[in-house]
Amino acid sequence: MRIDILTIFPEMFRGPFDYGIVRRARERGLVEIAVHDLRDFAADKHRTVDDRPFGGGEGMVLKPEPIFRAVEHLLGEQFDRERAAVILLTPQGRRFTQAMAAYLATRERLVLICGRYEGVDERVAGYLATHELSIGDYVLTGGEVPAMVIVEAVVRLLPGALHRAESARRESFAAGGILDYPQYTRPAEFRGLRVPEVLLSGHHAEIARWRRRMALAKTLRNRPDLLEKAALSEEDRQLLEELRDM
Ligand code: ADE
Repeated sequence: MRIDILTIFPEMFRGPFDYGIVRRARERGLVEIAVHDLRDFAADKHRTVDDRPFGGGEGMVLKPEPIFRAVEHLLGEQFDRERAAVILLTPQGRRFTQAMAAYLATRERLVLICGRYEGVDERVAGYLATHELSIGDYVLTGGEVPAMVIVEAVVRLLPGALHRAESARRESFAAGGILDYPQYTRPAEFRGLRVPEVLLSGHHAEIARWRRRMALAKTLRNRPDLLEKAALSEEDRQLLEELRDM
């Protein structure tokens, strides 16, 4: 996979792809990531990328020409929408989810356009981007951090990016649809706080049951909305009834 990022702040991307799983994936040749300064695609000598909004109002809007030129430079004028995704990051986008990450991980090329200022000329969303995405219901100062979020979520799903042990746990959101169970490590007692005894017992079946129960309890408390769509067994439903009564 190749990922191209278009931004007016390329310096913000020094660092985030140089650690952990993303770094390893790059070193293994699973993904190539390039960051481009949108100003390099401006047509005038001042390298202008923004202008005042038609109709009046506060602030500046990113102009369409540099963005269209940049994407056409990267993908050609008629790119294949089956192989490439062109993603505009704005708070007005569709919510980015694990399912969307899994879909994007199947593309050969991603172009991430970081929105800025008070907006991006709507012709970018309407005629250039294949997707307009938001990473959540809060407003950031631009699409740079959201682009980093998407890169990380997608790259770890590329075949070969995770070790076997890592992969086994990665489906929490995607498949089962509930939150992960709580983890503990040594020491068994820390400032008087003891690790749950069952985890020290060596009873694998009991540990599995306890973990499922704790995952359900956490989901019920923090994300009850997930339970509506989750794949739950009859035993899960009984556990949930008990938890609800507590
Ligand atoms: N730009 C500003 N806020 C954003 C968000 N929540 N998601 C994507 N892009 C953004």
